[in-house]
Amino acid sequence: MDRFTDRKVLVGIAAAVVLLGASSLWFNRRKRIPPKKTSLKTQLSYEQAIKNFQEAFLVSKEHMLLIKQSMEDEFKLGLSKVGENDRKSSIKMLPSYVDVIPSGKEMGVMYALDIGGTNIRTLKCELDGYGNIKSIFIRKRFVSDELQKGSAEQLFDFIAACVSDILDDVTEENKIGFTFSFPMDQSSIDSGVLIKWTKGYTTSGVEGNDIVHLLSEAFRRAGINAKITALINDTVGTLIASAYEVADHNTMAGVILGTGTNACYVEQKANILKLEPQVEEGVMIINTEWGNFDSPEYNVLRPTQYDIVVDKNSPNYSSQHFEKMVSGMYLGEIVRLALLELSQSKLFSHNGAPPIITPHMFGTAYLSEIQRDDTPKLENVEALMNRIGLPNTTYDERRLLKELCHAVALRSARLVASAIAAIVDRVGKKETECVVAVDGSLYEHYPGYGDNIQEGLRELGFEHVILRLTKDGSGNGAAVAACVMSK
Ligand code: GLC
Repeated sequence: MDRFTDRKVLVGIAAAVVLLGASSLWFNRRKRIPPKKTSLKTQLSYEQAIKNFQEAFLVSKEHMLLIKQSMEDEFKLGLSKVGENDRKSSIKMLPSYVDVIPSGKEMGVMYALDIGGTNIRTLKCELDGYGNIKSIFIRKRFVSDELQKGSAEQLFDFIAACVSDILDDVTEENKIGFTFSFPMDQSSIDSGVLIKWTKGYTTSGVEGNDIVHLLSEAFRRAGINAKITALINDTVGTLIASAYEVADHNTMAGVILGTGTNACYVEQKANILKLEPQVEEGVMIINTEWGNFDSPEYNVLRPTQYDIVVDKNSPNYSSQHFEKMVSGMYLGEIVRLALLELSQSKLFSHNGAPPIITPHMFGTAYLSEIQRDDTPKLENVEALMNRIGLPNTTYDERRLLKELCHAVALRSARLVASAIAAIVDRVGKKETECVVAVDGSLYEHYPGYGDNIQEGLRELGFEHVILRLTKDGSGNGAAVAACVMSK
């Protein structure tokens, strides 16, 4: 073949290759199913959507064990000497300076003050010496959003006014037990510096300051003759109220499952290595502040995309990760974010409706109500939806919503079970009866929530744990603390 024929052959081959390529491309294009304009989510059936939620919010036994172990490590790190480790524990493990566990025999008429969420409660009660805390009266006042986000002076003047309302005798100094349910650095039973606000509070001029000092100043401004003799966290209140009531020395921990979540427990002083000076004898209640677990890393709890958004939109971004997946302030918000996605993908109607697009408008109380509905067509859920401005829902939509709420609340309960197991292990009570006092609206009112914690504990081999509802433990405990600690 001459060079010319050579070139002709090469051109021919090249043309054939191009042609082949083009036709195969054309053929393949014809074969390929073009993407639909609608997103993949719209192709989901209700069944698939339910399954997806169940999977996304699942906390398996293996995951519970991992959380439990990781929490125990954080407890240990949190108790160690300050500055001894290169990393700080995400669980603060704050000494409460409550080192006497009530016997139930203490007697006296006490005043107490309790602030920690949307309400302030002031109470007067009598400890009768037989384990009964008889309430003489209780007053409850709402803490407005303005107060929660205002200045220290406004907030503490309001608290002082609430106290002034309940005091009978102003001629002599009134001793008051004070439950302040936020993380505090304490160096004595009657003082405490707020470390960081949680649960949506952002009041200025309080972080880094002594709460008792701020309140005493407010008492002085208002001419109130009163003294805070015990300052405690609500978990500590719950533990000691329960210990007073059952007086059996088995109450080893106090847990709050309400707007926020936290736990305290009875620790040997010898194990609190950061205590100055170091003490070998006796016990002290440790306020764990477990709500901050796995912050800021967020790699043990395995958040969903909704949890990430909840955290981003919160005033305390990158902290309180455990609390944001567990407590009443956030569960409704997680469901709302999932609903928002469903409504955009047409699995739930009312795209753009206020309860779906407005942050925190879908409250956790709705979740309880939805969960409680056992009617065949979920008529009560329908009535609730009508009431809050989401009318004409289909049965499928309601069913999906109920399953979603269940998945979110079940995850919360199983996370709590892992955390309680970590505490029970820490106090060495896995094999014996161990009472955990619990207070808070989520625990008290969410249908089946306590049973789900108990089931999780059983799965982990902690069948001896007794969860004891300790109603009003937070406030009553302040009265008990004032009585016990003044002795
Ligand atoms: C938040 C607070 C904590 C409190 C808990 C329950 O986590 O930081 O101190 O005990 O809420 O009210």
